[in-house]
Amino acid sequence: MASKHLIALLGGDGIGPEVVAQGERVLEFYREKRGLDLDLWSLDLGADRYLKDKTTYPKPIADRIAAEASAVLLGALGDPRVPGLEHARDILFGLRFGLDLYANVRPVKALADRLVPLKGRTAKDVDFTVFRENTEGIYVGMGGQFKRGTPDEIAINEDVNTRKGVERLIRAGFEFAKARGKKTVHMADKSNAMKHAHELWYRCFFEVAKEYPGIDAKHVYVDALCFYLVQDPSPFEVVVTCNLFGDIVTDLGAALQGGLGMAGSANVHASGGPGRVAMFEPVHGSAPPLAGKDLANPMACFLTVGMMLTHLGYPEEEARMEKLVSHAIAEGKCTQDVGGQLGTRAVGDFVLNELSHAF
Ligand code: NAD
Ligand code: IPM
Ligand code: MN
Repeated sequence: MASKHLIALLGGDGIGPEVVAQGERVLEFYREKRGLDLDLWSLDLGADRYLKDKTTYPKPIADRIAAEASAVLLGALGDPRVPGLEHARDILFGLRFGLDLYANVRPVKALADRLVPLKGRTAKDVDFTVFRENTEGIYVGMGGQFKRGTPDEIAINEDVNTRKGVERLIRAGFEFAKARGKKTVHMADKSNAMKHAHELWYRCFFEVAKEYPGIDAKHVYVDALCFYLVQDPSPFEVVVTCNLFGDIVTDLGAALQGGLGMAGSANVHASGGPGRVAMFEPVHGSAPPLAGKDLANPMACFLTVGMMLTHLGYPEEEARMEKLVSHAIAEGKCTQDVGGQLGTRAVGDFVLNELSHAF
């Protein structure tokens, strides 16, 4: 009998496999103890594999994920032994672009006052969600180098923005705001400098906004957004932005949450639909200096698994994961980066133990 949900697990590089191993324990718990019909499929991809046989992201695997999987849990990709990051781009963009996962949804929510680094601010001031365009922009790899290595060399990366791509991401942000009862959506661009590409964002944003009369649509330049987020993040609820700015703003956001070890994310084709696969990954990278030392914070991965559980149809389990992570942080049962003394696995033990008593 076919399993209801095929979940691909791709630990990747550095701390990726260590945090995904903890996320996998949570999924195993739901399979063994809560009867979720999950078929967990571990993929041996990443820098080790690439260095062994040059494999990056094989088509049969990509095809099976597209045809059969409900979700992918990705750790991180990036290894100093592959300085060009060929494997990382093939896998990460193979998933994001190949599956047309156009919305990278990155919640920026602080789960404890002590994690907020801003003077005079508490966790209630940090609670917004970034919708990062995930299939276009500067990430498409169009461009090239000319006269490389000479004094006249030229390097170009084209910034691709299509009406379809911009509009669907903006609409996903408004739909999310509407569904969650949010009052404001901000759109961050550089339309003052990028007069072609971001004039499209600006125009499209206010056109789409007309369909959501109950929601206040506000434009902010991305440089000013960075300033406001540090000065006072509390007015922000939903931020829609392009691929590159979303990447940068969500690392800043992660700092407001207590660090990259606390930030989860989902890569979705926002119109969903039955059988539509999505990819889930912590915002952080492979953190090579931490790898293999049991130092990586697995909370981002737990929150990411929570987002996956919503995608699989169990939103109450996402809320439960968030509560468990908050509880672990409150109890100091966490890694050093968030003020604790435990290792990655011991944090997993604590969270799994709490989870087993949560029903
Ligand atoms: P990084 O996110 O790996 O690390 C930035 C800082 O955050 C470091 O100080 C690191 O120690 C800390 N950190 C990150 N995750 C942590 C965790 N779970 N627990 C505790 N501390 C954590 O960013 P970087 O150093 O710029 O990148 C390293 C590699 O990862 C690069 O090759 C980069 O391209 C790649 N990367 C991959 C992804 C991805 O696959 N989704 C995301 C970001 C970066
Ligand atoms: C992220 C990462 C990636 C990105 C890198 C590794 C290409 O920083 O997922 O945030 O820029 O999207
Ligand atoms: Mn990033």
